[in-house]
Amino acid sequence: MKICSVVGARPNFVKLAPIARELARRPQVRHCIIHTGQHYDAALADAFFHDLQLPPPDYALGIGSGTHAEQTARTMLALEPILAEEKPDWVVVMGDVNATLAATLTAVKRGLRVAHVEAGLRSFDRAMPEEINRRLVDAVADLLLTPSADADENLLREGVTPERLRRVGNVMVDSLLAALPRAAESAILDQLELSPGAYAVVTLHRPANVDDPPTLRRLIGALAKLAKRLPVAFPVHPRTRARLEALALPEVRALRCLPPLGYLDFLQLWRQARLTLTDSGGLQEETTALGVPCLTLRTTTERPITVWEGTNRVVGTDPDAILAAAEACLASPYPMAPRRPALWDGQAASRIVEALLADRSGRPPGRPPLED
Ligand code: UD1
Repeated sequence: MKICSVVGARPNFVKLAPIARELARRPQVRHCIIHTGQHYDAALADAFFHDLQLPPPDYALGIGSGTHAEQTARTMLALEPILAEEKPDWVVVMGDVNATLAATLTAVKRGLRVAHVEAGLRSFDRAMPEEINRRLVDAVADLLLTPSADADENLLREGVTPERLRRVGNVMVDSLLAALPRAAESAILDQLELSPGAYAVVTLHRPANVDDPPTLRRLIGALAKLAKRLPVAFPVHPRTRARLEALALPEVRALRCLPPLGYLDFLQLWRQARLTLTDSGGLQEETTALGVPCLTLRTTTERPITVWEGTNRVVGTDPDAILAAAEACLASPYPMAPRRPALWDGQAASRIVEALLADRSGRPPGRPPLED
């Protein structure tokens, strides 16, 4: 059996690592990794391959940045001849980035079967590019591998038949649990002169937050006020750095701005934080898995289970609401007990691989490509 995994951006690499490890244990499978190059900076891509112990990709497409159409179209054009040559039994895509959509469209139209890891998440906010990607991928992928029951419900409501669904749990948690011992060796807290439980960690990169100057100004203002209470460490995504440089806000100086961190350093940083404030999807899940308080600086989440069964609170982008939620958080008992949702147990990758090998999609491999 041949499986091609297509990854493009930082959160994809985290999901791929445990699946790649699990596939490497199966002698009957040849696994081919295709990195589209949507994320190309060493800090966003190479450092993650290294920290996650991923083998180098078999193909690196070097797609780079651009508009959504440019990024998606360039990826499709570069992928098509590779998939035509490799003819995998499965194309595995993960998450909701542009690489996920591009790979899915290319593969299904070549008659190849697609499995989507992290299927069924919905923010119900069509202004998010990721929501469009999630909906389109789930509409046409053959096998929908979901992290939690709410994702199954979303898909069933959209008319997906149960045969296409398989609840496998959260593969990010596999990566997290596997990396904990190595993260513990990171010297990041000493380097930043931070004490465990006595600082906050912030990440921001959603276009709705950082591309809109009034929103970014409000968020930075609220974070600067929080920095009067405790140090605020802020690893800055390249998109956000560009916007901050353009705005030149003086309040940014109150924050401990850092370059994007590798997976292990970042894990060690956030797991010991008193609280995290973020618009990332992955960090909402990761903080729930380890019982770290999380305030989500968005009005919606595609991961509501982290609120129902975890440590997450969706607080929006109003500065007063953010500061009130942060104060409430600082006043509540710490550390919190982790409450992991069902199947967030570090075994998701093995269930994913079982699902691929059992091949219950009901669709034969090697359908002819759709006619041009
Ligand atoms: C992408 C994903 C988002 C994910 C995030 C994780 C989509 C639509 N969005 O957002 O879901 O949460 O990755 O980081 O796929 N840039 C660099 N170096 C890089 C990559 C990007 O400087 O290696 C800069 C470029 O200016 C680029 C901008 O960041 O234009 C945005 O990059 P892009 O990959 O388009 O989206 P992200 O904001 O990273």
